[in-house]
Amino acid sequence: MANKMFATKSIAKLIAESESGEHGLKRTLSATNLTMLGVGAIIGAGIFVLTGTAAATAAGPAIVLSFIIAGLGCLFAGLCYAEFASMIPIAGSAYTYGYATLGEFIAWIIGWDLILEYLFGAATVAVGWSGNVVSLLKSAGINIPEIIASAPLAYDGSSFSTTGSLINLPAVLLILTMTALLVVGIQESARFNNLIVFIKVGIVLLVIGFGFQYVNSANWEPFIPAREIMPDGSGRYGWEGIVRGAAIVFFSYIGFDAVSTAAQEAKNPQRDMPIGMLASLGICTLLYVAMSLVLTGLTSYKNLNVPDPVLVALTAAGPGLKWLFFFTGIGAIAGLASVVLVMLMGQPRIFYAMSRDGLLPSVFGKVHPRFHTPHITTIVTGVIAAIIAGIFPIGLLGELVSIGTLFAFIIVCAGILMLRYTNPDIHRPFRTPFVPVVPILGILICGYMMVNLPHDTWLRLIIWMIIGIAIYFLYGRKHSKLAKQNEEERISRNA
Ligand code: ALA
Repeated sequence: MANKMFATKSIAKLIAESESGEHGLKRTLSATNLTMLGVGAIIGAGIFVLTGTAAATAAGPAIVLSFIIAGLGCLFAGLCYAEFASMIPIAGSAYTYGYATLGEFIAWIIGWDLILEYLFGAATVAVGWSGNVVSLLKSAGINIPEIIASAPLAYDGSSFSTTGSLINLPAVLLILTMTALLVVGIQESARFNNLIVFIKVGIVLLVIGFGFQYVNSANWEPFIPAREIMPDGSGRYGWEGIVRGAAIVFFSYIGFDAVSTAAQEAKNPQRDMPIGMLASLGICTLLYVAMSLVLTGLTSYKNLNVPDPVLVALTAAGPGLKWLFFFTGIGAIAGLASVVLVMLMGQPRIFYAMSRDGLLPSVFGKVHPRFHTPHITTIVTGVIAAIIAGIFPIGLLGELVSIGTLFAFIIVCAGILMLRYTNPDIHRPFRTPFVPVVPILGILICGYMMVNLPHDTWLRLIIWMIIGIAIYFLYGRKHSKLAKQNEEERISRNA
């Protein structure tokens, strides 16, 4: 049984299987589309909200260093993703890479874990989007009643209570609209994403460019505030705060890896996948470092623990930056919408790959004959994400998304390390440089950020994994196509 669970699938077989079938996914995405998808998934709630929280509660102005540390962890993991994506240019991202290197059971664990990143990620960001839309409309004099625009459940860290609200309707509507777009076509979705990315990057650049002129460098002193001990014994600021800040702002980088889920729809995946992932990561890292310098330079970091830190920082600059308020609201709304779009694009492509291998029912692998999209799994993903976003509060989900993603990054780095020894000669159109140093550093930095996430987030991850393992033993192992093929080959050899 252990042999079956750890059986891997050869890369040649994986690629051949992905190309068989009457109706496949359509290869239409260019390197620019892929880079824009990466930027679309990356810039969102993280930069518009978490930068402020992390600066105020963890790192102070040294949040800039937190961004650099988190960015380095992502760069090392991104280089490993790039090697895999160029070597195995098919749908499924880390799940598929896991199947090729570490075996079916670990692949299932990664696939299950990625639900936290994509499906829960989409739901979390949709809740953030709803909050932004409601407050922008309010500032324009339009009030959306709270009963239909906030979560009916609240969570205080240990138990749930009801809030009197019915549903978070704007979040649900956003998810259902993005789902419909994704069903109609990947090319249409990519075009829409390009437009939103253009708007949100333009607005981030405006805030950085004009904000810099109003920076008061006294706000950067001390750059690393002295460490303080909190009542629960934990520390903030100092080095500890910088690392804790990195674990918080890691969320802002999530999404560049979503590019790899679209590998089967890229025109030239072996060249363009690495470009899409690494270019989007590089662009966003520069924007994040500049944005966090501006925010902590416009006002004291102590004022930034609010849901709208960008507005608070711009207000502190005086009337000169008032004209940016409206644009910032639009930037946040556009930014969060494209994150939801790309996350909802990634999840079905992972389910699609899992169904191809028999670990999920075959209906998840159906491709629409006209639209060439995995329509059924896209709809299932959208409906589940809409239900989660309609009911749950944002705080419950955010760090779970981060821990799940960090876990996947660590496994991808470990996979690259292993494959260099087990399969050194395979054709690698993109090679991670400085192996084993880069994957080992990726594992260490991502592991360190994981350790810095709160205990109850770990507990939720463990519970989620136990549920996943139970499903594997009850369903996946019995329906696995690889196990069936291996069994048939064994019988025919013995006959
Ligand atoms: N990186 C994405 C965001 O910050 C998930 O919203």
